[in-house]
Amino acid sequence: MNSVEVTVISKSKVKRIGILTGGGDCPGLNAVIRGVTKPALDYGLKVFGILDGFEGLVDGRMQELFNADVSGILATGGTILGSSNKGDPFHWPEGKDNKIKITDRSAAALKNYEHWELDAVIAIGGDGTMHITHQLSQLGMNVIGVPKTIDNDLEATDQTFGHDSAVYVVSEALDRLHTTASSHHRIMVIEVMGRYAGWIALNGGLAGGADVILIPEIPFEYDAIYEKVLARSRMGKRFSLVCVAEGAKSVDGKMIVKEKDIKRTDPIRLGGIGEFISKKISENTGLESRYTVLGHLQRGGSPTPYDRILSTKFGTNAIQLAIKKQFGRMVALKGSEIKSVKIKDAISRQKLVKPKDQAVLAASAVGVSFGTEKL
Ligand code: F6P
Repeated sequence: MNSVEVTVISKSKVKRIGILTGGGDCPGLNAVIRGVTKPALDYGLKVFGILDGFEGLVDGRMQELFNADVSGILATGGTILGSSNKGDPFHWPEGKDNKIKITDRSAAALKNYEHWELDAVIAIGGDGTMHITHQLSQLGMNVIGVPKTIDNDLEATDQTFGHDSAVYVVSEALDRLHTTASSHHRIMVIEVMGRYAGWIALNGGLAGGADVILIPEIPFEYDAIYEKVLARSRMGKRFSLVCVAEGAKSVDGKMIVKEKDIKRTDPIRLGGIGEFISKKISENTGLESRYTVLGHLQRGGSPTPYDRILSTKFGTNAIQLAIKKQFGRMVALKGSEIKSVKIKDAISRQKLVKPKDQAVLAASAVGVSFGTEKL
């Protein structure tokens, strides 16, 4: 350890850091854990991994992290700490089946934080995790946020890590669907994740050469989709690729909900629009159609180089914030720099695709239909 680092720690008095991964997993979580832990150990801090997100904070499950735990995990998917989207301490489900009662276990979370003598908790997660983190900070917990989600729907950061990896998976899937669509002269519909935001469908569809992209922010008309695939047929392109976000909806329709589960931080699970659109296309155009639901393939596996770099920058900056006692803040990408914002501000607005977004305009300029006449 050099003299500068010794000065930092003696000034900061921050000695024990908790770290957790909340909500749905995504590629790059382990790279953040490594980015936090390695420098923290070098500074002489102790790092404690809280298991399964906020569930571990409430239940009292954690393990100390050493260099060996975070060595070799830069490129691995998932999270070595485990995660959960059902462990909201302020919305804690007790009981089984239809006898579930929602209770407030935030006092237990706070008790464990104090019992473990933590100086701060670094919470890595999406909007749900940041909401919980903010509520815990109001109860006196020192917190730092790191924004993750394949959905890329956090306004306060130009990009969340995990998104690039998901876009890569979508783009590769479209490349594969392209060849089979062309051989069989079919309309291939691919349903991708993203919840209420269309970023994965937009960026993945653009990268994978989709002919039609449907996103929640631009309600579509069925006739415009039929017209696009029929026009391609007439031109001799007897196949088309349709990339649809799970949250997409028609001008007079609603999002298709697969399941409601009150135990989850967000009770709504979307899904089913891909199959629905595929059937509508065959029935109304006479063209043969198939659908693929990409599902959790978008969340699994190794992060792309972009996500490894972003995650490492986020992790190393988050531990600096903790050392400087800049609590209640979340690291964020602004342009090409890592800055920080108040978590309170980060959760106030969701980042949605604007109909005039450059990616929408670029896609449109190369002939992609968004299922509408007018953007
Ligand atoms: O928020 C990430 C995400 O993958 C969404 O895109 C998707 O709607 C949701 O999580 C799926 O959640 P689960 O893994 O609980 O099915």
